[in-house]
Amino acid sequence: MRKLAIASVVLIALAGCSSKEEAPAPSPEANASGQTPPPAAKKLVVGFSQIGAESAWRTANTQSIQDEAKKRGIDLKFSDAQQKQENQIKALRSFIAQKVDVIAFSPVVETGWEDVLREAKEANIPVIVSDRRPDVPEDLYVTFIGADFIEEGRMAAEWLAKKMNGKATIAELTGTPGSAPANDRKKGFTDELAKSPDMKIVFSQTGEFTRAKGKEVMEALLKSPTGAQINALYAHNDDMALGAIQAIEEAGKKPGKDIVIVSIDGVRGAFEAMIAGKLNCTVECNPLLGPPLFDAIEAVMAKKELPKRTIIKDGIFDESVAAAELPNRKY
Ligand code: AHR
Repeated sequence: MRKLAIASVVLIALAGCSSKEEAPAPSPEANASGQTPPPAAKKLVVGFSQIGAESAWRTANTQSIQDEAKKRGIDLKFSDAQQKQENQIKALRSFIAQKVDVIAFSPVVETGWEDVLREAKEANIPVIVSDRRPDVPEDLYVTFIGADFIEEGRMAAEWLAKKMNGKATIAELTGTPGSAPANDRKKGFTDELAKSPDMKIVFSQTGEFTRAKGKEVMEALLKSPTGAQINALYAHNDDMALGAIQAIEEAGKKPGKDIVIVSIDGVRGAFEAMIAGKLNCTVECNPLLGPPLFDAIEAVMAKKELPKRTIIKDGIFDESVAAAELPNRKY
């Protein structure tokens, strides 16, 4: 009986060795040589809260961020706040709940971010700020990447004072109230203008960074006694300037001649308006922040040290160079 049992075991063992078909099936992931490759690296997950789509600048900024994430194989959770801070705060909280690897955002206004950024810090999720800086203690974010808005306003004022020989009656269309670019572009412009006592701002109102609102505010201004006096316009972005240009034409005046116009962003539409003689100057604000943003995100994940601020350098372009420059514009 014992001999029979041993013989059966030997037979089963031999059968197991001799038959190819009975070898264990390779795992579904196995390659041609039957080896299982190492598991694919986990995709980096980034939550990005965008302000909205108020301007051509913003559209180019969104495109740059989405294209760059795709190019690098990053799982981008993109949320559009439609100009509302409460929507951005909700998006940031949802990124925290989802335990994304990194949070990035462009804050619509400067204040009111401290609580949610503390929550991100407590959850150990690094935050990178792009385009606009929030007014919070610096330990609540890793790094900021964007333009120097004060310098942009200063460049616009310097150019305008030169163009107007130090004497002008100016209307100002400001950006989103409480936003960093609206606050800083105003500051840079008025500080520089203080050097020219005959350059006077007689009107200042928000056009909310949109073409429609820029047109609406300019229309109303031109119907007023103050509107009849102005001979220069400073718009905090190109979209508002382009809307104002329409209003000026509809009021029977010549934009770019009766009213000299300087704005900020350097979008393609501004170059076309300069070539048409309707806009006089644009100060560049580069929206193509996708590559430096994702460089910073990857550096954070690699535990590399980053500077607190990376300022993207801007240029200034007036009507004299617009036609030559247009083919080089990327947005
Ligand atoms: O924060 C950048 C500003 O926001 C751009 O100048 C403006 O066009 C945009 O909407």
